[in-house]
Amino acid sequence: MPWDEIVARDFPAMSKDLDGISRQTMEDHYKLYQGYVKKTNACRKILNEFDYAEIEGNQVYSELRAVSIDYTFALLGFKNHDLYFGHLGGDGGEPQGRFAELVDQEFNGVDKWKDAVRKGAKAARGWVMVGYDLNDGSLFNYIMDTQNLWAVYNMVPVLAIDVYEHAYVRDFGATPDGRGEYVEAFFRNLDWDHVNRQLEQAEAAKKGADAVGPEPKG
Ligand SMILES: [Fe+2]
Repeated sequence: MPWDEIVARDFPAMSKDLDGISRQTMEDHYKLYQGYVKKTNACRKILNEFDYAEIEGNQVYSELRAVSIDYTFALLGFKNHDLYFGHLGGDGGEPQGRFAELVDQEFNGVDKWKDAVRKGAKAARGWVMVGYDLNDGSLFNYIMDTQNLWAVYNMVPVLAIDVYEHAYVRDFGATPDGRGEYVEAFFRNLDWDHVNRQLEQAEAAKKGADAVGPEPKG
């Protein structure tokens, strides 16, 4: 399989003082991200080197099964944190631009989306991902218990809140209230331009797919 090694990126947020989220938290968190990069590459190497004619495929346990599944955990650990760190370091404030326009339509008001995403952040065990659906152009707050569970195909993440405890325990404590305070701090540091760039790319991808896809039925 033609897989290149992935590399950890440098993010502007890592060299800034964020509001409420400490440098130590960010540095420790970045080490986890580097770990996901390392394991993604390790899994790719194993998957590349398997002799698929000989290897066992067993649904109870097999090396192929274990590595293939844990590969998605490692790869999405990389991808999710890539977005998370990428859109921190901004000035926060109210949702802006196209994102605000779309959630206003989808949720019958920007404030309703804000309530929904905050409740989603309380209900998730790992991530809340606001994703744009390439099939119907909708936005949805995906509640994800781990980085590789409960998202759907053809969804492009545009906003990602890490609600694993490692993201906030040092600064806010391990309580539900601490998590709530962390989510507020996350939004104070969010770069809405980054969110809107993600969304712009997703909408362009949908437009491209629609242009070459089959005519809608009906
Ligand atoms: Fe994380």
